Amino acid sequence: MLWFKQRDIKLREIMDDEKCDSLLLFNTYEFFRIVNMLTANWGWIYRKIIRPRLRANGGHGRFLDVGFGGGDVIDRLALMCKKDGFEVEFLGIDLDKRAVEFVNKKSHLSNVHFLAIDARDILKSNEKYDFVISNSVLHHLQDSELIEFCAITKGIARCCVIHNDVARSAFSYYFFRLIFPLLAPFIKKSFAGVDGAYSIRRSFYREELASLVSKDWKVIKVFFPPRLLLTNEFPASTNPNCQGETKTKLK
Ligand SMILES: C[S@@+](CC[C@H](N)C(=O)[O-])C[C@H]1O[C@@H](n2cnc3c(N)ncnc32)[C@H](O)[C@@H]1O
Repeated sequence: MLWFKQRDIKLREIMDDEKCDSLLLFNTYEFFRIVNMLTANWGWIYRKIIRPRLRANGGHGRFLDVGFGGGDVIDRLALMCKKDGFEVEFLGIDLDKRAVEFVNKKSHLSNVHFLAIDARDILKSNEKYDFVISNSVLHHLQDSELIEFCAITKGIARCCVIHNDVARSAFSYYFFRLIFPLLAPFIKKSFAGVDGAYSIRRSFYREELASLVSKDWKVIKVFFPPRLLLTNEFPASTNPNCQGETKTKLK
């Protein structure tokens, strides 16, 4: 337990309970916005992986964010694309209808849309998206669900899939347990304290994630803040704006 040698998949995050309190769920989404901004590295991912491909495709592209939660990742990507003058479309999907209720209360760029649907339905409809992304979703899944999730998202993508998640580490866990009580008096009451700690314990080590997916997936470990990127970048032969593997240099 002390070093979290195994994923603790018995732990259930409160937000995954469909009966959980909506107000506290919404406050949790608000908290994610800050955490994602500080820890999820989407600026770096945009510059290294996304922007070169959008440029190669004449500035056009379609994005699908699976499990958008509070919608902040897609909002941020949309702003970065707008700044670069790209003409892109964004769709966020989530299994939880309350996530759509939450984002509908906020304003978004006109090219950003949200729906409460299952990625399986998108795959069945044969709609394609150049970039299929997720943020902090993988650790919610059992191993078998993760294998299916990767197959579905790869099936929907035209250019690349980027799953960005928390990485399990004793450092993250104890750091979070230390820092959260200090922040708690200054933030709205939410599930973040419990779910944050659970999500670290449910998340993967690099080797565990790599062992579940086929060789065309790459797992990149970002050491600080500890995150894992699971990417599948299609070769140029699949689509001219696909350029194969990004030569990743860790930050
Ligand atoms: C921890 S939240 C992350 C939300 C958001 N991406 C973020 O980073 O703030 C995980 C979200 O994934 C959604 N989710 C979990 N499993 C999913 C699945 N199989 N398909 C779509 N959404 C899923 C949940 O409903 C939840 O909103």
